[in-house]
Amino acid sequence: MNHFRAVIEGVGGYLPERVLTNDDLSTMVDTSDEWIVARTGIRERRIAADGETTADLAVAAARKALENAGASADEVDLIIVATATPDRTFPATATIVQQRLGVTAGAAFDVQAVCSGFIYAIATADNFIARGQAKCALVIGAETFSRILDWSDRSTCVLFGDGAGAVVVKAEPAEEGGSEARGVIGSYLRSDGRYGDILCVDGGPSLTKTVGHLRMVGNQVFRHAVVNIAEAMQTVADRAGVAVSDVDWFIPHQANRRILEAVAKRLGIDENKVVETLSRHGNTSAASVPLALDAAVSDGRVKKGDLILMEAMGGGLTWGAALARF
Ligand code: ACO
Repeated sequence: MNHFRAVIEGVGGYLPERVLTNDDLSTMVDTSDEWIVARTGIRERRIAADGETTADLAVAAARKALENAGASADEVDLIIVATATPDRTFPATATIVQQRLGVTAGAAFDVQAVCSGFIYAIATADNFIARGQAKCALVIGAETFSRILDWSDRSTCVLFGDGAGAVVVKAEPAEEGGSEARGVIGSYLRSDGRYGDILCVDGGPSLTKTVGHLRMVGNQVFRHAVVNIAEAMQTVADRAGVAVSDVDWFIPHQANRRILEAVAKRLGIDENKVVETLSRHGNTSAASVPLALDAAVSDGRVKKGDLILMEAMGGGLTWGAALARF
C-alpha cells in the first residue's frame, strides 16, 4: 500500500529565443517547408544560443514550475533531469540544476531514456514519493539536441529542437480524496534494446571519446512508435480501470503529427483531446511532454482535476505512459 500520492502542483516551460524555420532549413539542406509540414507537422524549432546549455534551459523551466506551484526551492528534496544531452558526461545535469537553484537537500540525478525520459522520470519520482522517500520533487525534461544533430542530414536535422519543461510534484497523504484524488494514478515503462540501432547516437565517451551525431531509420521508428505508444496508453488505462474515452487530455511526446494521428485513430481518441505543440518547437525529446503540458495548462485547457494521459517513445527503444489526475 502506498502512503503518499504524487500530485503535480506546478508546471513550467522554457524555449530558447532563436527560431529556426523550415524555410531557414531549406537554405541549409535539400528540403522544403512543404515537405516538412506534410511529413511531420513541424513549422519551426528553437535553437539554444552559443554557450546556452541544457542546465540553463532546465533551470529556467524549473523556476517557472516552482513559481506556478507557489513552492520555494527550499522545499525541494528530489531533482530528476531527463536528458540525453547533458552539459557534461558527468556530473549529472540534475546536480548542476540543484546547485543553481540553491537546493542542498535530498538527491539529484539524471534519467537517460531519450524521448521517453520524462515518462521514466515522473514514474521514478512517483515511486520515491509513494514510499515516503521524497516530499517535493522537481521533474525536468531538458535537451539541446541541436548539439548532436548532423546538420547535413536532411532526414534528421529537420525534426528536432531545443527546450525544457518541468513539473513540481508534491506528496499528499494517499488515504485522502478517494478515487477523485489528484495525483499520479499509474505508469507503465518499457524498453527493448534489440532495436537500439534504429535510433541512436554514433558516438559517446567510452565508444569513440566524442559526443557523436544522431542517426535514425525514420520509417522503422515510425512503425514502432505507433504500436508501442498505443500499447502503453491502453495498458496504463486498463491497469487503472479507466477507459481511454474517460481521459480528458492526451499529452503526447511531440515527435510527428502523423504519429499522433495514427495513435489517436488506433485507440479511437477524439483528436480535439490531443495536445499538439510540435508545430512550434519540433521534437524536443525529453522536454516535449512537459512542454505540451505547460502549454495546455497555460491556455486553460488542462484544469485541476482533469484526467491526463502522457506518453512517449524514444531511442533504446524505450517507451511508456503515465496517467494522472492533474
Ligand atoms: N526533405 C525532403 N525530403 C526528405 C527529407 C527532407 N527533410 N528527409 C527525407 N527525405 C526524403 C528521403 O530521402 C526519401 O527520398 P527517396 O524516396 O528519394 O529515397 C523520401 O523523403 C521518403 O523518406 P522516408 O524516410 O521514407 O519518409 P517518411 O515518410 O518515413 O518520413 C520521417 C520521414 C518524417 C522521418 C518519418 O519517418 C518519421 O517521422 N519517423 C519517426 C521518426 C521520429 O519522429 N523520431 C523521433 C524520435 S522517436 C520518437 O520520438 C517517436
